[in-house]
Amino acid sequence: MSLKKVAVIGAGNVGSEVANQLVSKELADVVLIDKLGDFAGGKALDILTSASLKNSSSNIVGGDDYSLIENSDIVIITAGLARKPGMSREELVEANGNIIAEIVKNVKKLCPDAIIIMVTNPLDVMTYLAYKISGFKPEKVIGMAGVLDTARFKAFIAEELGVFAKDINAMVLGGHGDEMVPLIETTTVSGIPLKQLADDKTIERLVERTRKGGAEIVGLLKTGSAYYAPAISAVETAEAILKDRKSILPASVFVDGQYGAKNIYLGVPAILGANGVEKVIEFDISQQERELLQNSAQAVKNTIEKLEEAMGITQ
Ligand code: LAC
Repeated sequence: MSLKKVAVIGAGNVGSEVANQLVSKELADVVLIDKLGDFAGGKALDILTSASLKNSSSNIVGGDDYSLIENSDIVIITAGLARKPGMSREELVEANGNIIAEIVKNVKKLCPDAIIIMVTNPLDVMTYLAYKISGFKPEKVIGMAGVLDTARFKAFIAEELGVFAKDINAMVLGGHGDEMVPLIETTTVSGIPLKQLADDKTIERLVERTRKGGAEIVGLLKTGSAYYAPAISAVETAEAILKDRKSILPASVFVDGQYGAKNIYLGVPAILGANGVEKVIEFDISQQERELLQNSAQAVKNTIEKLEEAMGITQ
């Protein structure tokens, strides 16, 4: 069996777990890149030697030499700083902007046909930056956030109602920040509207907890941020592409007027398949949800402007 090739950039907690899950699920052959080359090599060797026990024939190598990423089908970028307790994701914009810019230049040079999945924060802004610097078509540059935020929303609903999270159909849209928009009107548990299972106050609490879900974990960990859920969410996004699944997933994609947002990356539903973003889905959400989404889009736009000013990028 010939597997596709996925490059994972950054061998920190998220990147290593992404690589581990890709191998565990036998989804691809993996190269794990980190500026600490031996560290990436060590992680890769550890994962490789676990593969047979997981019934996986995936290969994995690691190092700091970018030529390893040549001919990758997908590049998942996880490198950069994580926030510390009390920090917002947006505060990382300049430091991570410079790191991402360097990485994307290498991606552009070595695998110009790859699809980029961004994981680094501030997510929507780093995805936009990757799009700008790579010059790739917008459908080839995708940010992973909606899958993670939705998984958190589902987990919190499940815990509150005492139901199985997998039975919940929900979506969190907007930017990956405190203004994200967990959709309420369309959320169901095995087809039953959430609004018939929980009162408004409870739903409001679940929405707030979802918006602050990442910060809640940062606050508990004290050092570093979440990685199991972010990693598997990135792998879920990659799997839709590797298997040409045509899954409708919430993802940070380039919007060109959809939901009233233009020329930014924003979390909206999209069909993901072999070609990356195959279609951005715009559907009727309530007026209130639309306004919240526009508010979130404005927050992303503001951070993009801050980044462009700091890095001297012009529109
Ligand atoms: C989080 C970080 C990864 O939400 O953005 O946990």
